[in-house]
Amino acid sequence: MSSVAPNDPAAARGISRRTQSDVYRAGISGARPAVPVLPAALESAAAKAMSAEAYAYVAGGAGSGATMAQNRAAFARWQVWPRPLRDVSSRDLSVDFLGRARPSPLLLAPLGVMEMVHPEADLAVARAAAAMGVPCTLSNQASFPMERIAQSAPGAPRLFQLYWSSSDELNASLLARAEASGCEAVVITLDTHLLGWRTQDLDLAFLPFTRGMGIAQYTSDPVFQQLVRERAAGASGEPSKVRVTAKTIAAGVSIARSGAAVTGSRSLRGNLRSPLPRTAVETFLDVFSTPALTWGDLTRAREWTSLPIILKGIVHPDDAERAVDAGADGIWISNHGGRQIDRSVATLDVLPEIAERVAGRTPIVFDSGVRSGADAAVALALGATTVALGRPVAYGLAVAGEEGVREVIRNVLAELDITLGLAGLTAVRDLSRDVLRAA
Ligand code: FNR
Repeated sequence: MSSVAPNDPAAARGISRRTQSDVYRAGISGARPAVPVLPAALESAAAKAMSAEAYAYVAGGAGSGATMAQNRAAFARWQVWPRPLRDVSSRDLSVDFLGRARPSPLLLAPLGVMEMVHPEADLAVARAAAAMGVPCTLSNQASFPMERIAQSAPGAPRLFQLYWSSSDELNASLLARAEASGCEAVVITLDTHLLGWRTQDLDLAFLPFTRGMGIAQYTSDPVFQQLVRERAAGASGEPSKVRVTAKTIAAGVSIARSGAAVTGSRSLRGNLRSPLPRTAVETFLDVFSTPALTWGDLTRAREWTSLPIILKGIVHPDDAERAVDAGADGIWISNHGGRQIDRSVATLDVLPEIAERVAGRTPIVFDSGVRSGADAAVALALGATTVALGRPVAYGLAVAGEEGVREVIRNVLAELDITLGLAGLTAVRDLSRDVLRAA
């Protein structure tokens, strides 16, 4: 199927029919889709394409994985109620989001460290999103600087996600860069002020940031570079001795590569010798999280940017209301895909309560557990304005790079369109509780 021009509602409307017929027609000559269509098969194919560490990082969750399971189980508590004989020959997937008409109600969630999944990482994801007319959210833990990602898909709609670091100067600098590089909104993720207890990563003793992965937004930032230089200048004595194994050498090379932005040198040998790349990793680990952050602090973000601000990681109706009262331009219901707390609430379970409190006052982005177009339809019917895709995007990237991400988005849109029509509706805007039945 040809690409869909960004912000072209007509193109988005035609997606499902062309996708299905294209797939079946191509199948006559033996061609198969680039990525498996069935979500579980997509994950299995991705698992085979990734290293054990990458798969653990992407697929893993907090603790026993109960929150991830609940995110999925919550979808099983709702059924779509089909209604025939209503002329659904023309269907409109468009929604209004952040003051603009969008061709579809999908968004890509921020995903850090995609270099573990594919070398083109965020560049491939941004190009795929642009081709499908879906805004993508650039992660604070991306593998490429935001300016470079912007260049890979010029003019495409983008949001920037911030992890509020302990350096306000750094926060301000990142948001200024986001605005200057054309992001249309800022997403502040609130649920990662402490890193969750990630059992699968712990068993492998692998956290990508300690290897210099996923810190490109930092190493490319002038304020961060200054923090690294100050730390290096203050460092005294010999660096601590580590046992040299093949793995320590690989980690050293990975850190040296990521440190090129702080040393200003492209020489791998030079960066291996320089203390700055390791100092950059240590500086990152120091500044990354801010467990002391409170609602009062958030007002400072208004001084750092004139862009709309969306708060991500809201799962309590009181917090949703407080976010709106505090002037947030949007809320993003998310439990980080079950990666932060084990035995947490499922996002779909709290969506109706939150929508009841704040719908109409603020856009509601929804994620955690969305795997298909039918899932998206249920979330939209329960009050979401837009639905964000997380892990399936990483899986598509792992299996077939940019094309894989395009196909994942295309499949979700196609099934959403078909679900809408089979439920007897002609517009996503008309999705409401009336099309659902509690199972
Ligand atoms: C994430 N998520 C995330 N969120 C965020 O605000 N900033 C980030 O950098 C990341 N990084 C990240 C990496 C990986 C590998 C995953 C799987 C997730 C959370 C993400 O934005 C989203 O909330 C979840 O992925 C939604 O859950 P599902 O649908 O993927 O289960």
